[in-house]
Amino acid sequence: MSAIDPRLRAHLEIGESSDERFVEAAFELVLRRPPDTDAREIALSRFADGTLSRAALLRDLVTAPEFDRVRQLDDVIAFARGARTRGERPRHLLASPGTDERLIEVPWVLSRLRSGCVLEVGYAFAEPAYLAGLVEAAPEELVGVDLAEAEVPGFETVSADARELPFPDGSFDQILLVSTLEHIGADNELYGSPASPDENGRRAALRELRRVLRPDGSLLVTVPLGEPGDHGWFRQDDIGGWTQLFTRAGYFVEEQEAYELGEEGWRSAPTFDPRGVVYGTRGPAASAVLCVELSPRRVRRLISPGGVRRTARRRLGPRYRRLRGV
Ligand SMILES: C[S@@+](CC[C@H](N)C(=O)[O-])C[C@H]1O[C@@H](n2cnc3c(N)ncnc32)[C@H](O)[C@@H]1O
Repeated sequence: MSAIDPRLRAHLEIGESSDERFVEAAFELVLRRPPDTDAREIALSRFADGTLSRAALLRDLVTAPEFDRVRQLDDVIAFARGARTRGERPRHLLASPGTDERLIEVPWVLSRLRSGCVLEVGYAFAEPAYLAGLVEAAPEELVGVDLAEAEVPGFETVSADARELPFPDGSFDQILLVSTLEHIGADNELYGSPASPDENGRRAALRELRRVLRPDGSLLVTVPLGEPGDHGWFRQDDIGGWTQLFTRAGYFVEEQEAYELGEEGWRSAPTFDPRGVVYGTRGPAASAVLCVELSPRRVRRLISPGGVRRTARRRLGPRYRRLRGV
């Protein structure tokens, strides 16, 4: 008896699903969301009158501008997964002109993710692709904390203020703040929380996070960079301003990298100059961003065997190798 042609089997299997099911599945696969009511009805009526085929629907979705964003995020998450697997800490990341800072922040953070107990601060409005990337990385424990509430399968979620956390000392191996620190103590009405401005909110949160971080833990922070200023719903600073905040809250800067959005897109900016770098003027959001890894144990880490070498390597990157002649 001859075998069924696998191409025929695929056609028959696709043909078995209803038009409704096909439209749902196509939107979820390509745009990672269900179809809105109008799009569903238009697709179904065009299927019914024969002016749209299933293959043409897929082509329309893949060529829609919305898919660019899905693809860009997918690309950086895949890149971070590969880097993590190889134990790399990638620098000099790239992203296209006109894009927002998540295309830099997400791979920078996800590639440096640890496997222990991880706390994500400000998760409630995060990119679903980033949250899914965290879940897929499967750290031992994944906790999300935010003033706002949101359900995320794979996360234990806690509604709390980062300045006063309901966790015992030393609970986490790693804490992540992706574009969140600049909002702490600012006007969070946009995110559904009452405005209660607090000049010292960012420092208070950093100190509280230091308390719940294990002594050998790591804090990954990304923040908008440029001309210092209070924008009401967040505060932007230059490298000196952010670094002073980190060190005054009791951290050591293990690694930091500035990125700037220019005509070529997002590029690493080792000689970053904040003058003229204004939020929202070069793209949809930040014009520059600082990605930082902080540790709470400056002295012990430096005096441990290899500590000075490790720290110099992280801070100087390729310059360290040149200085050492390797
Ligand atoms: C710009 S959003 C964060 C973006 C998100 N992390 C991402 O990856 O896209 C800022 C978040 O910080 C949260 N937030 C602001 N102040 C906070 C505080 N004091 N404690 C906890 N969360 C806070 C807001 O509710 C909001 O969800």
